[in-house]
Parts: sequence; C-alpha cells; structure tokens
Amino acid sequence: MAAATLPETCLVVGANRGIGLALTTALLEDGDVKRVIATHRPGGDLVHLDELATHYGVKLIPQVLNFEQNDGLENFTKFLSNLEKPVDLAIHAAGILHEDGIEPEKSFSQCKTENLRRIFEVNSIGPLMVAQALLKAQPRKHPFTFAALSAMVGSIGDNRLGGWYGYRASKSALNQFIKTLSIECRNRYPYASIVAIHPGTTDTDLSRPFQRGVKPGKLYTPDQTAARILSVVRSVDQNQSGQFFNWDASQIPW
Ligand SMILES: NC(=O)c1ccc[n+]([C@@H]2O[C@H](COP(=O)([O-])OP(=O)(O)OC[C@H]3O[C@@H](n4cnc5c(N)ncnc54)[C@H](OP(=O)(O)O)[C@@H]3O)[C@@H](O)[C@H]2O)c1
Repeated sequence: MAAATLPETCLVVGANRGIGLALTTALLEDGDVKRVIATHRPGGDLVHLDELATHYGVKLIPQVLNFEQNDGLENFTKFLSNLEKPVDLAIHAAGILHEDGIEPEKSFSQCKTENLRRIFEVNSIGPLMVAQALLKAQPRKHPFTFAALSAMVGSIGDNRLGGWYGYRASKSALNQFIKTLSIECRNRYPYASIVAIHPGTTDTDLSRPFQRGVKPGKLYTPDQTAARILSVVRSVDQNQSGQFFNWDASQIPW
C-alpha cells in the first residue's frame, strides 16, 4: 500500500456517526491534514469533535448539508466555492440499509415501490448530486479524489446470495454513476480520481441488526475501517479513476 500523505483539505459527508465519524476523527488526528469539512444533516451537530480538532490544531468546518434538496446542494456549492483552498479529498460516507419502515428485502415479494425509491434517493442519487455540487466548485485542473462508500453487495458479478434488492441495486446504481462520472471527468477534470470503495463489514448502526451471520474476525471497528479507507485513498490517483476498490485496495468486479 502506498504511504503517500493525506492532502490538506478534506471533506466527509455524513460525519456525525458510523464510518463517517471515524473517518473525520482519523483525518483530525492524521498530522498532515489542515482542514476538515464535515457535513451532517440539519438538526445534527459535531460539537463532540471540537476538542479533538483543537487538540490537533486542525480546522474543523462543520457544515449542514441536505443533499436531498436542490437548495441544500446549491448552498453547498456556494459554501465550497468560498473556501480558502479547494477540496483535495472528499469521502461520501452517508447511506442507508434500513430506516423507519425500511428493512432489507429477503424476497422480491417484500419489495415496495416507496422503499426502493427512498433507498435509491439516499444511496445512489445522493452521492451523485454531492459530487455534482463539489465539481461545480472545483478548479478544473486541481487534483482531488472523490470516494463514495459503496458495498460489495452492489457488485453484480459477485452476487451469489441474492436478497437485499433495494440496497444491492442502489449500490450497483451508485457504482454505475461513479464509473460514468469518472469517464466524463477525464477531460473536464483531468486530475480527478473518482472511485467507489467497499469499506468492509463494520460495527455501526447500519450493520448492527445483521451481524449474526458475519464470520468471526470479519466484523471491523469503525476506526479500523477508517484507517483502511484512508489507506486506499492515499494510494489512488487519476489513473485509477472509475474503479471499485475493496478496503484492502484490491479491485471488486462490477
Ligand atoms: N457498516 C457496514 O458494514 C457497511 C458495509 C458496506 C458499506 N457500508 C456503507 O458505508 C456507508 C456508511 O455506513 P455506516 O455503517 O457508517 O452507517 P451508519 O452508521 O448508519 O451512518 C450512516 C450515515 O449516513 C447518514 N445518512 C443517512 N441517511 C441520510 C440522508 N438521507 N441524508 C444525509 N445523511 C444521511 C447518517 O446521518 P444521520 O446521523 O443524520 O442519520 C450517518 O451519518 C454507507 O453508504 C453504507 O452503505 C457500510
């Protein structure tokens, strides 16, 4: 794994809990990172990270982002355009597997239009629109990485178990968005690296109801996962744009 340093200005979307919180914490503790923009939904906050940021002398910039609404995205572009330095690394860590009234489907008979719509809205459309908001603010020749947390179950080639229709398909759609965006960006943003990353099964609210079937030693802490994701993004450059990485930097089939 490459030991390149992390860049100065980093952005984490969905920073208030789970893997996003662990990533934000790891970036604050990193030593090379100078500023961390950390987004959360309206109603949340990141005051619990203030002390850590002060301790490490890193500028923590909490930002409300509602990526489900156009004005939320437009405000986000304006905010990014006014930053003292452009973003070098952005990680989209927001996503759902379950929510009020939504559970992963074991059978096609459990699929419901409104639940499928919701999961695509958050897991597929959300990261694409965040990437769009970010790209509008980025100087064309600025080198940066946009990494969306996807999931191994989004791999169509690797689908051996079936089930989880909505979540699986929403991550497959996310992967297609990432691949397509990376192709368009080759000319428009020639130094952009746009990738999908499977973080590995991690002990968070998202996986907690489904951890019974996880093999011993295969459930990782958010801190372990954050360290691995950062290791992957450190090793990525524009030549790997449009790829789907596992947490160990190996490639996952689409
Ligand atoms: N944990 C795993 O084992 C695992 C495995 C494979 C892939 N992943 C992927 O990794 C990512 C992070 O998962 P996690 O385990 O950290 O989940 P988590 O602990 O449940 O955290 C989910 C994050 O997403 C945010 N979020 C959810 N719905 C949102 C919405 N509509 N708008 C904005 N933010 C929203 C949450 O914000 P609020 O606090 O405001 O709800 C929270 O910050 C997800 O994309 C997930 O699919 C996780």
